[in-house]
Amino acid sequence: MPETPIYLILLGPPMSGKGTQAARLSRLLGVPQVSSGDLFRDNIKNQTELGRKAKAYIDRGDLVPDEITIGMVAQRLSQPDCAGGALLDGFPRTIPQAEELDQILSDLGASLTGVLSVGVPENVLVDRASGRRICRSCGKSYHLTFNPPEREGLCDVDEGELYQRKDDLPETVRQRLAVYQQQTSPLSKYYLDRGLLREVNGDQPIEDVAADIARVVNQL
Ligand code: AP5
Ligand code: MG
Repeated sequence: MPETPIYLILLGPPMSGKGTQAARLSRLLGVPQVSSGDLFRDNIKNQTELGRKAKAYIDRGDLVPDEITIGMVAQRLSQPDCAGGALLDGFPRTIPQAEELDQILSDLGASLTGVLSVGVPENVLVDRASGRRICRSCGKSYHLTFNPPEREGLCDVDEGELYQRKDDLPETVRQRLAVYQQQTSPLSKYYLDRGLLREVNGDQPIEDVAADIARVVNQL
């Protein structure tokens, strides 16, 4: 665990590789990946009240309302394993969420270390969606062409079954991209104005993106 807690945001459109890179960076830095999308999918799988409320929004490709999302992430960040920091993957996604995050971290006696903005052109994002497969038990993401599992249909980590997310169907992906442009892209300016934003080119092989991110994080 690092001496000074390191709280990083991975910001970027659907399919930009936030989850892929957050999982790697989590191993490198020894801090947990906190993915709001994964937390929602766990709640849906476990049929919780929160999961029931979130499901319809997610299936349509819309954002889950801030009041549901913020409480869920705040609760996760208050757990002991996040005391040394966390990699926020998919949160915040609106200006009110970003403002609340500042407050949550300040209540924990911490502050944001930096924001990694992963840029990928839209046509590449759409191509990635059709080939993505997710492990049903641990949530690790694969790609049939760019990042295939060792054994077809099975997760390399825990042999869980790989499935296609319902919100990766083409119409829903288009909606998620539109929602990103409208509601999430203003966060780039929010963090640029605070001197926290660092751009990373996400349109290169996974290893190269990871190397760029490691370089940027070393300079924070
Ligand atoms: P979430 O699960 O966060 O989905 P997302 O933001 O749409 O992002 P993805 O998980 O689809 O993509 P990613 O950037 O993690 O890419 P990945 O690494 O998998 O959210 C889902 C839904 O939950 C939202 O639509 C919303 O409804 C709700 N939600 C979540 N957070 C919320 C919030 N804060 N507020 C409100 N609602 C919220 O990579 C994608 C694919 O590409 C994979 O197949 C991967 O193997 C491949 N790949 C990755 N990197 C590369 C590369 N460099 N080259 C080639 N292929 C690559
Ligand atoms: Mg993800």
